[in-house]
Amino acid sequence: MFEKTTYSNDRNANYKLVLSQLEALLKMEENIITKLANSSALLNLFLEDVNWVGYYLYDSEKDNLVLGPFQGLPACTRIKIGNGVCGTAASEKTTQLVADVHCFEGHIACDANTNSEIVIPIIKNGEIYGVLDIDSPIKARFDEIDQKYLENFVETLEKYI
Ligand code: SME
Repeated sequence: MFEKTTYSNDRNANYKLVLSQLEALLKMEENIITKLANSSALLNLFLEDVNWVGYYLYDSEKDNLVLGPFQGLPACTRIKIGNGVCGTAASEKTTQLVADVHCFEGHIACDANTNSEIVIPIIKNGEIYGVLDIDSPIKARFDEIDQKYLENFVETLEKYI
């Protein structure tokens, strides 16, 4: 079921398949770490040309983001709300689609290979729960189609957290 060969050349169909695969994974287990770990692994399997996929989760005691389950190089463990692409997505509660991270003021470089990035806020009961962060070594790797489906991905996740 979870193999690269499952995906075709049809981008929309592929994303729809990933969304159904995500639902299947989320229904499998109640533990939140398991859900985040498997969903990041699914995106890492599916998305081409990405070097980091994972979550930063809101820590209400420290009022910052802490590194959650991910695929990629070891990364910064804490990000202040409002800082970098992740902290901006969290403070503004909006998706950040960044074609060139070197032009984004305050971008936090965890992996020097990263050139573009998309960060989608995860909202629970109107409050920030965390963010989904995806990095690519290719400039302008993500477009509006990616944004639409990745926002759907997070909406699906939000139903299970
Ligand atoms: N680039 C992110 C930091 C997280 S790492 O890329 C995994 C940012 O600017 O918030």
